[in-house]
Amino acid sequence: MAETGGGLSGVVAGRSAIATVGKAGRGLRYRGYRIEELAAGAGFEEVAYLLIHGELPAAAELTAYRGRLRARRELPAAVRGIVQRLPDHAHPMDVLRTGCSALGAVAPVVEPSAMADAADTLLAQMPSVLGCWRRVDAAGGAASSHAAHTLAQLGAGPVTAAAERTLDAAMILYAEHEFNASTFAARTAASTLTDFHSAMTAAIGTLRGPLHGGANEAALDLIGSFDDPDAAEAGVMRLLAGKQLIMGFGHRVYRGGDPRSPIIEACAERLAAEHGGGEMLAIARRIEAVMRREKGLFPNLDFYSAVVFHQLGIERRLFTPVFVIARLAGWAAHVIEQLADNRIIRPTAEYVGPDDRPFVPLAERLATP
Ligand code: COA
Repeated sequence: MAETGGGLSGVVAGRSAIATVGKAGRGLRYRGYRIEELAAGAGFEEVAYLLIHGELPAAAELTAYRGRLRARRELPAAVRGIVQRLPDHAHPMDVLRTGCSALGAVAPVVEPSAMADAADTLLAQMPSVLGCWRRVDAAGGAASSHAAHTLAQLGAGPVTAAAERTLDAAMILYAEHEFNASTFAARTAASTLTDFHSAMTAAIGTLRGPLHGGANEAALDLIGSFDDPDAAEAGVMRLLAGKQLIMGFGHRVYRGGDPRSPIIEACAERLAAEHGGGEMLAIARRIEAVMRREKGLFPNLDFYSAVVFHQLGIERRLFTPVFVIARLAGWAAHVIEQLADNRIIRPTAEYVGPDDRPFVPLAERLATP
């Protein structure tokens, strides 16, 4: 077996032309474009188009694309019925996973050539799944951007121009990240030639865990548990002394820092000026300083995203669903890429179990001591 620290760390598991974190994690790019430039100069729909369809759209193509997404927000009646029957106390990630699966049952997509179009449709429908479950009026905001529509379906607010711009930038940062766990799950599922929605459902289930998508919710719990920066410093020191993981810090592929973190931190600063929330930002910054000083660890995208999502008035339990709504673009791009040159993903295991043993018939078998 290859020498690794476990968890397939350092293993190159395939080739991709969609995104790179750069040499030694020094610069994230989507299809060659630097994340800093995309977050500052593009909108989420442009980036989704880039990921799913391969190139940045020209102005007329973008207008048509935005119109296409707006026109596909409505859910089929059968899916509305299923989603609305889910209990209010369900985990929103389970609602999205179920909604995605139901959409695939109503309109399955198996042909690789139909998957880019299916990806656009699912992108448009995903915020509506949450809105439908939460009984938000699906007809609202018919002319709005995907970010504004998402805020409305999440019941977040107020939906100001600053809020819309900020969520748009955050969704660009969340849209793609090469072979992370959920993307790899989507590619593995797709490699069996399963249908599009099965691959997306596998990815949603994988993103749900606290070591992956759930970290932004845990980061808010941490930041929100302190009244001021001094209390945060003392509290984090206690947690570190107890060998606890601090959610929103560290990363498998970045060793020097997550390039998305300064971008989302700047969003939090701008929003604090317009919407308030400066106290929470000050607490977050102190936690960052303590983590750097004590552990040499840096914040990942999830840490300041927790502050931003809270400032935007998004409920904590809906943080990871926002990640899903954005990352769908990346997952879909990977499924399409996988199928363009497919071979089933089926690695091998190093066997560490018992050697050959004689089979003992049931009547003669003794209970395990
Ligand atoms: N808090 C405290 N200690 C941490 C830490 C954190 N967030 N992240 C890593 N460490 C510690 C590890 O426990 C390990 O310590 P050890 O050598 O004493 O065992 C050391 O730093 C090196 O860990 P590393 O190899 O970098 O972690 P990994 O690649 O296996 O895991 C993560 C990467 C992201 C899963 C891990 O950093 C983590 O669990 N972070 C918190 C969850 C999170 O924010 N996830 C979102 C990722 S975008």
